[in-house]
Amino acid sequence: MTLFQPFTLPNGVSLRNRFVMAPMTTYAGLDNGDVSNEELTYYRERANGVGMLITACAHVAANGQAFPGQIAAHDDAFIPSLRRIAQTIQQGGAKAVLQIHHGGRQARKALVPNEDIVSASAVVGSHGELAREATTAEVDALVDAYAQATRRAITAGFDGVEIHGANTYLIQQFFSGFTNKRTDKYGGTLEKRLTFPLAVAEAVLNMKKAHASEDFIIGYRFSPEEAEDDGITMDDTAVLLARLQQLPLDYMHISLGDYRSTTHRYVKGEVNRIREVRALLRDDLPIIGVGSIYEAHDAEEAHALGADFVALGRALLIEPQWVEKVKAGEGVATTMDASNPQAIPPKMFDMLRSHAGWIPGL
Ligand SMILES: Cc1cc2nc3c(=O)[nH]c(=O)nc-3n(C[C@H](O)[C@H](O)[C@H](O)COP(=O)(O)O)c2cc1C
Repeated sequence: MTLFQPFTLPNGVSLRNRFVMAPMTTYAGLDNGDVSNEELTYYRERANGVGMLITACAHVAANGQAFPGQIAAHDDAFIPSLRRIAQTIQQGGAKAVLQIHHGGRQARKALVPNEDIVSASAVVGSHGELAREATTAEVDALVDAYAQATRRAITAGFDGVEIHGANTYLIQQFFSGFTNKRTDKYGGTLEKRLTFPLAVAEAVLNMKKAHASEDFIIGYRFSPEEAEDDGITMDDTAVLLARLQQLPLDYMHISLGDYRSTTHRYVKGEVNRIREVRALLRDDLPIIGVGSIYEAHDAEEAHALGADFVALGRALLIEPQWVEKVKAGEGVATTMDASNPQAIPPKMFDMLRSHAGWIPGL
């Protein structure tokens, strides 16, 4: 299978194969934002097969925390914790990529200083908590927060960072007409709604220039569409991708629940999202495809649709050695055995169990 062959990213870094561990929040960090030993064990079990492992999302500002037990990257005090994560992953032979995140309206009041959550505009998050509109100066500082988290990732020895521009978090909130009703330079027209995502990407790239070598990997994750009337359409995403691909990024990562999913609102009608994104991007800018890839034939199908890399989330929860097993021609389980947590931290396992149907078998 081609997916087992090495791949060289635009920055010249070679990955041993084209399988990636998808970023997954563990809910199992320590209360102060440091990584826990349980999380390190969880990563250790999963770092031996994939070419690149993207960590759980780490918040870049104290007011960006969206989950209990989220690992933090918003202060230099977290560098030793970040270093432990990077080293654990690298010991398995995978490239270690830190996902940098801010929850925006999805941050939780109980988890942030003064219960003060901010977004592009005054909007309610999916937990029913109202965020206030960040001032222009605060937004400028948020751009810098992603850059500072990148500097910490570099210092901690990570191979790269992934900018979390997906899954309704802060960057997506700025890009979306549903959540961004601002009237300053960061909002209004589609062009102005691009300002924040592009400023974050540029700030992260500038930090690389200042503190890292060309080897440092920078990827960007995005969600292609939103359901809301004034939310993101695939036509909006095509504009975002046209702009992002002018920057020296190393990969784009589409966030999907299913690799077979098709566009809902697009000038070209209903087409496979991975295939379309592949067609929209420069040939030499790879994309990571993802979503409900449980068996080897799913991975091959996603690859055939245009995914240069294939990310595995739930499959690696169920089968930590998925890549090694498939490479050896062995079968893989596709449902989770509730009596065998596979080194998943107990808090994460409890969370998975409490969401019926999230993981097949649980
Ligand atoms: C428990 C869990 C936690 C997740 N946390 C994150 C996260 O921190 N960042 C992110 O971008 N996506 C996150 N996701 C989404 C996954 O990266 C992935 O896109 C999704 O699970 C679909 O892929 P899969 O079918 O291979 O699991 C999470 C998914 C799960 C199941």
